[in-house]
Amino acid sequence: MTARRATAISGEVNVPGDKSISHRALMFGGMATGSLRVRGLLEAEDVLNTAAAMRALGADIERQGDGVWRITGAGVGGLSQPQAPLDFGNAGTGTRLIMGVIAGHDMTVQLIGDASLSSRPMGRVLNPLKQMGLEVLDGTRDTLPLTIRGTASLLPIDYELPVPSAQVKSAILIAGLMARGETTVLEHEATRDHTERMLRYLGAEVRTEQRGRLRAITIAGDAELVGRDIVVPGDPSSAAFLVAAAVMVPGSEVTVKGVLVNETRSGFYTTLQEMGADVTFLNAREEGGEQVADIRARSSQLRGVTVPSERAPSMIDEYPVLAAVASLAQGETRMQGLAELKVKESDRLAATAEGLQVNGVAAEIDGDNLVVTGAAQIAGGGTVATHLDHRIAMAFLTLGLAANEPVTVDDAGIIATSFKEFTGLMTELGAKFEAPGSSGQ
Ligand code: S3P
Repeated sequence: MTARRATAISGEVNVPGDKSISHRALMFGGMATGSLRVRGLLEAEDVLNTAAAMRALGADIERQGDGVWRITGAGVGGLSQPQAPLDFGNAGTGTRLIMGVIAGHDMTVQLIGDASLSSRPMGRVLNPLKQMGLEVLDGTRDTLPLTIRGTASLLPIDYELPVPSAQVKSAILIAGLMARGETTVLEHEATRDHTERMLRYLGAEVRTEQRGRLRAITIAGDAELVGRDIVVPGDPSSAAFLVAAAVMVPGSEVTVKGVLVNETRSGFYTTLQEMGADVTFLNAREEGGEQVADIRARSSQLRGVTVPSERAPSMIDEYPVLAAVASLAQGETRMQGLAELKVKESDRLAATAEGLQVNGVAAEIDGDNLVVTGAAQIAGGGTVATHLDHRIAMAFLTLGLAANEPVTVDDAGIIATSFKEFTGLMTELGAKFEAPGSSGQ
C-alpha cells in the first residue's frame, strides 16, 4: 500500500478498543465465576485469537454485537484441556499471558504462531513460570512452537523482572491467582498496569507498594474472580497514528474521542507536548476504572527532544510513529533505552531506522538509542519492509501523508492484527492511500 501527501487531516473519530485491555477482558472473564459483558472489545486478529484460545480452553464466549461480547467463565483454575494446539498468530501478548493461565491448570498445551511470533523470546515468561511449577516439554528451546504442561499445585514466588515487560509481569500475576500463597512481582520501571486494575476490579486481592526503588505488586493465590461488566476504552497506541498525522500535516485538526490515557500508556503524548505539538486532553474522565479523554491534535511546529529511557515502558509501541514525527522536528530527537524494541513483532529499532533512511530521513542507531535529525521536509519515495509488524506498516503510511514523494509499505495486510479500521478512518480524515494494483485517486 502507498500513502501520498495529504492536504489536511481533519475530523472527529473514535478508535477501536484497547488491545491490551481486550486480551485481558477475554482471559479474566473466562476465568471468572458467572457471566459478564464486555463493551468496546477490539475485534482485531490478535484479540480474536485470544477469544478462540479461551473458547478452546472451555470458556463460553459469544459475540453479541459490534464490540459487545458475553463471557461465561469456568472459574479460577476451572479451564479444561484443549483438543488442538492454540494458534496465536502474530500476538505476543496473547501467547505470554495464556502461559500464565495454563501454568495453573493440570493440562498440556501446544502453542503456535506465525513467523514473527515464532522468533520472539518466550524464556522471559517461561523462566518465572517454571519456578512456579510449569513444565516445558521442548528442552531449553524458548521460541514457539512450544508444548507446556501446567499444574494444579503452583508455588508462589517473588520475582524481580529482568526486563521492563507488562507481559511478563502479567503472566506471573495470572499464575499467582492459582498459586498457594502470595506471589510478588518487583519492577524497576512502572509498566502498563491493566492486569492489576482488572483483576482487582473482578475481586482479586492485589496490592502495589514501593520497596526502595522497586515497585512491588503482590497477588493473593487461591483467588476467585467474579463476573462484572467491562468497558474497553479507545486504544492510545492506535490513536497515536491519527494524532501524529494531524501534527505532521499542515492545516490539520483531529479529535480522537474516548481514548485511554492511563499514565502507564501516555508517554507518547507527553513527548509530543514536549516537542511543542498542539496536543490536548479534553473532557478527561474515568470510565470502567481507567482514565479516558478526548485527544485533540493540531498541526504544529516541532522541535527535537531527548526522550529518557525511563519513559520507554509508557510508550513502547509508539516509537516508530514518534520517529516519523521527529522527521519534521527542528534538530535532533534522541530516543534512549530502546533495547526492548528489538524483540517486538519485528526488530523495530532496525525496521524504524531503515524505513526512515529509505525515505531520506537522517536516522541512526546509537547503541540502544535511536537518533532522528529532523528537517523542514521529508523526501519520501521509499518502500518500507514491514517484517510482519503492524506498527511499522502504520507508522510509515503515516509518514507518507507528510512526505514529498509517496511512501510504500510492502505489506499492509498485517495491520489487521490490531487496527483493521486504520486506512478507512485515516481516509475519512483526508488521507490518501492506494492499494497495490489500484489506480489511486
Ligand atoms: C503489552 C505489553 C508490551 C507491549 C505490547 C502489549 C501488554 O509488551 O509492547 O504491545 O498488553 O501487556 P512488553 O510487555 O513485552 O513490553
